[in-house]
Amino acid sequence: MVTDREIERAVAVLRAGGLVAFPTETVYGLGADASNPPAVRKLFEAKGRPATHPVIVHLADAVQLANWAREIPASAQRLARKFWPGPLTLILRRVSNVSDLVTGGQETVAVRVPSNPVAQQLLARFGGGVAAPSANRHGRVSATTAGHVRREFGTAVDCVLDGGEAQVGIESAIVDLSGISPVLLRPGSITAAEIEAVLGVSLTAPAGDAPRAPGTLAAHYAPQTPLMLVEDKRVLEHAASLLRQGKRVAVLALSAHRPVLQGLEWIAAPRDAAGYAHELYASLRRLDELGCDAILVERPPQAPAWAAINDRLARAATGSPVPDEP
Ligand code: TXA
Ligand code: MG
Repeated sequence: MVTDREIERAVAVLRAGGLVAFPTETVYGLGADASNPPAVRKLFEAKGRPATHPVIVHLADAVQLANWAREIPASAQRLARKFWPGPLTLILRRVSNVSDLVTGGQETVAVRVPSNPVAQQLLARFGGGVAAPSANRHGRVSATTAGHVRREFGTAVDCVLDGGEAQVGIESAIVDLSGISPVLLRPGSITAAEIEAVLGVSLTAPAGDAPRAPGTLAAHYAPQTPLMLVEDKRVLEHAASLLRQGKRVAVLALSAHRPVLQGLEWIAAPRDAAGYAHELYASLRRLDELGCDAILVERPPQAPAWAAINDRLARAATGSPVPDEP
């Protein structure tokens, strides 16, 4: 539970140019006053994020859009009406006074109205835009609890609002509406089909030179332990082979059938996409902390409902060594 006094204190911290970690329905955000460049700079330093990577401006409601974006297309209004407050980020042309720190020097700005009640209270009481990347160090797994945030940042964050577990568990879908046709920059819990149904046109995939988005860099959302995606039927075989080599193995499985093998750690993930997403980052953190030699993830179904999950898992696996064939 977050009290009124805590919200007030968080607002005071934002006004003073400090950093506030807060829950959203997707993941925790690390927030700073988006209109205060030194505060945003502090945010980048705490995250260890390159200054050229833009951040999302969080707003209490769509009415404030005009303070941040111009030439807002009808498609943006339609998406906002349908999905805000909620886990959707829109890329729009920015008004000229938005700080280059927020936009990474681009002509566009990312905006989102989150639905989490604590985020809503914070934003409404603050009244302005809160620049907030996910509350994790650059390139690492996003935080879905206040405990994750504290472990990740310690005293580098002035205030952590504890709103319990983030409900969705993976970051918002990002749709770029600044160009001729809408582009899905990052898949999320709102599926491409749901967005297309509102737009009435197909989303295109990002071009290679699309706006810089660290969440779209190949290696991202990664635990420290090498992570490998393994086809469902081969997980056990693969784990056994590594165990024979004297390795300790952590498995994120879809099967609740937990084999008893020395040196094997096993988390059975929910078999529905929403449940899986909700637990994904907490499970990856838990498996990572065990300090095993490898994390094997049983590859989820390739169905559209799993697109955002498969996207994050593929990025978490990038940079990890290719698994030896058992
Ligand atoms: O669910 C979320 O979106 C969470 C919560 C806290 O709201 N935030 C989040 O922020 O995931 P972050 O910074 O980890 O990822 C935001 C993504 C980045 O990939 C960033 O580059 C991209 O949005 N982005 C921000 N502004 C952009 C812009 N003007 N053009 C293209 N991409 C942009
Ligand atoms: Mg992030």
